[in-house]
Amino acid sequence: MDRAEKIGLTLALIMLLGFFVLVVYAAKGLKIDIPTCITDVEPFQQGKLIKHADKRYELHILAKMWLFDFNEGATQIKLPVGSVVDVYVTSKDVVHGVHINDTNFNVMAIPGTVGYLRVKFEKPGVYHVVCHEFCGVGHHAMEGKIVVE
Ligand code: CUA
Repeated sequence: MDRAEKIGLTLALIMLLGFFVLVVYAAKGLKIDIPTCITDVEPFQQGKLIKHADKRYELHILAKMWLFDFNEGATQIKLPVGSVVDVYVTSKDVVHGVHINDTNFNVMAIPGTVGYLRVKFEKPGVYHVVCHEFCGVGHHAMEGKIVVE
């Protein structure tokens, strides 16, 4: 290994360490939620919206060709402004991507696994939920709505 290679390798390791420290800082210091894949939750077969308390919800999104099931087949749901929602995502068939516009929610829906991220809906309006992973002929029309009022 020559000198240039050693310098390059050292810089790469320093950058890797730097990125790792920043990810931990984002999660712990800035309290930014990082999308996670959950291993202790069974993939579900149906969408479900569960209310736990005032403005506190749990949402199970089932992605399938070519719609998002938010609650027993419904592709549109309503939530009050300021709701904090624990969102779980899975897929019934192929890989889909779930993005809730105007939020930082962007999680892959992978068959057999459950993705998770918490979202707070601070502003009223219609939040379009779109699929961003090509999943077949109906991909472009795969969307749902979360109405916050
Ligand atoms: Cu589902 Cu693209």
